[in-house]
Amino acid sequence: LRVAVLMGGMSAERDVSLSSGRECAQALRAAGFEVIEVDAGPDLARRLSEISPDVAFNALHGRWGEDGCVQGVLEWARIPYTHSGVLASALAMDKTRAKAAFAAAGLPVAAGVMAAREDVSARHILPPPYVVKPNAEGSSVGVYIVQDAANAPPQLSAEMPDQVLVEAYAPGRELTVTVMGDRALCVTEILTSGWYDYDAKYRPGGSRHVLPAQIPAEIEAACLEMARRAHDVLGCRGVSRTDFRWDDTRGRDGLVILEINTQPGMTPTSLAPEQAAHLGIGFPDLCRWMVGDASC
Ligand code: DAL
Ligand code: MG
Repeated sequence: LRVAVLMGGMSAERDVSLSSGRECAQALRAAGFEVIEVDAGPDLARRLSEISPDVAFNALHGRWGEDGCVQGVLEWARIPYTHSGVLASALAMDKTRAKAAFAAAGLPVAAGVMAAREDVSARHILPPPYVVKPNAEGSSVGVYIVQDAANAPPQLSAEMPDQVLVEAYAPGRELTVTVMGDRALCVTEILTSGWYDYDAKYRPGGSRHVLPAQIPAEIEAACLEMARRAHDVLGCRGVSRTDFRWDDTRGRDGLVILEINTQPGMTPTSLAPEQAAHLGIGFPDLCRWMVGDASC
């Protein structure tokens, strides 16, 4: 089987995707596939028609690779691809609309509003503490946390979108669950010295992962169930990862979904492969399973 591993791309998470892509390409070669690494630029459609792969392994993150765009190109070319399809990808990448879908399904989310960048820089849109983030980015790129009212509103850089998401700060412990098909794998707790920013995510030793998380069985079961439901509510496919905060002073009511990631990281410091490995599914087997799950 010839597999094109789509990586790199044009988003703010390009470097993360190059790392994911390299890991996956290496694992797929070791698993016996013919692998072609494809840096997904504007000429992607032409490259794909030249390569004519049996499967596209999507190792892209962020804009164009995780938001339904590349999925649409692959549908059009009738090339089976890994992970979620057009609609689920587009919905999941739009944090505000994903939240609305989760809330409609009774899943707990932090309250949030969209606001103009200049308004956010001029005044506190919500009572602090709150978080400002691009509505459609990953890996904590462009995230500002405003802890208290004494702090000035964040002066957002011109690279931020015109409209940004302002979200009530969800206090608590950082938990995450990977879903693989119809199975929620396990709960990981992420421990960091500050918050789980880009550096903590990708610098080796930048965070410590406890899996399975040392949390009450009731909370563990709730996380697994909510991750499965979040995956289903958006119509996700293959592997996804849902991130939570848990305020452990409030029991089950303290659990909030931060977001779902339809293209979870596959880098050496990433969480999904670690959860799979914990259940005895090694990295090549995980990649092989994704190829087998590909469709269009
Ligand atoms: N956005 C990064 C790749 C993740 O969710 O793992
Ligand atoms: Mg994300």
